[in-house]
Amino acid sequence: MNGIKRYKLNALITGASSGIGKDFAYELAKNGYSLTLVARDLGRLNEIKHDLESKYKIKVKVDSKDLSKNTETNELVNGLKSEDYGLVVLAAGYGSGGKFHSLDLDTELNMIDVNCRSVVQICHEFIQHRKDESPKGIVLFGSLVGFQGVPWTATYAATKAFIQSFAEALSGEYINKGIDIISVAPGPVKTSFGNRAGMVMGNAQSPDGIAKEVLRKLGKTVTVRPGFLSKFLGYSLITLPRNLRTFVLKQIMGQMVFGSKG
Ligand SMILES: NC(=O)c1ccc[n+]([C@@H]2O[C@H](COP(=O)([O-])OP(=O)(O)OC[C@H]3O[C@@H](n4cnc5c(N)ncnc54)[C@H](OP(=O)(O)O)[C@@H]3O)[C@@H](O)[C@H]2O)c1
Repeated sequence: MNGIKRYKLNALITGASSGIGKDFAYELAKNGYSLTLVARDLGRLNEIKHDLESKYKIKVKVDSKDLSKNTETNELVNGLKSEDYGLVVLAAGYGSGGKFHSLDLDTELNMIDVNCRSVVQICHEFIQHRKDESPKGIVLFGSLVGFQGVPWTATYAATKAFIQSFAEALSGEYINKGIDIISVAPGPVKTSFGNRAGMVMGNAQSPDGIAKEVLRKLGKTVTVRPGFLSKFLGYSLITLPRNLRTFVLKQIMGQMVFGSKG
């Protein structure tokens, strides 16, 4: 079978309470997937669950987990053993903006746990204890900032470089083995991300429709730049040498974080 229904119709989505993860929840529900939605905010997860169950004939479970806490990530990973997902979408993540030494160290370290450590743990469990030979899909979240160092968001950009490299490597290992892995590399997207990161994004795309494009490309490419803005910014930057990309993004990030070049 081709298309998004080739996977078992059961998906885990982290970061499902808002933004791009929420868009995945609606797109997969529309395609008949039962879902397990993970984030910290149980109230928002329950609202989404009730809305999805009233609109589509699917079952939705919610699981409140703080993925910056290793004990909670371990609980989620242990729970995977008794589940049989066709797809995992690991959208939970956050960023920070500012001069590195002025940022809260715990926020930076927790970011590594959410954006990278939890992703490695979940992927390891999902692949190691694959239940059968049916096709599986893994959707990971890199970023436009993950292709070079980016001043004023140093840790965040480094977490996204990690995910980009991790996705490319896993895709290389499991190509032709029935596990499709994709890295989503958006430019600025209008979600709660900017507020939490302390970044003002003047020109940003809507999260709506990102899931549809990504799911269409899953299994066909390793990296997807969803929407026009991501493609325009991504392909313009990629032609520059790495040090020049860092210079350009320093100017852009300076505007987003300080309202000036920083
Ligand atoms: N927006 C952008 O411009 C942009 C650009 C490139 C890449 N991305 C990436 O895209 C992904 C989705 O981001 P988004 O734009 O949709 O942002 P968002 O609207 O802020 O969504 C982030 C999601 O992650 C969850 N989350 C955050 N911290 C968590 C934690 N400690 N434990 C568990 N869940 C946590 C949030 O839920 P709770 O708050 O309920 O926990 C929320 O559901 C992220 O990986 C982000 O880095 C975003």
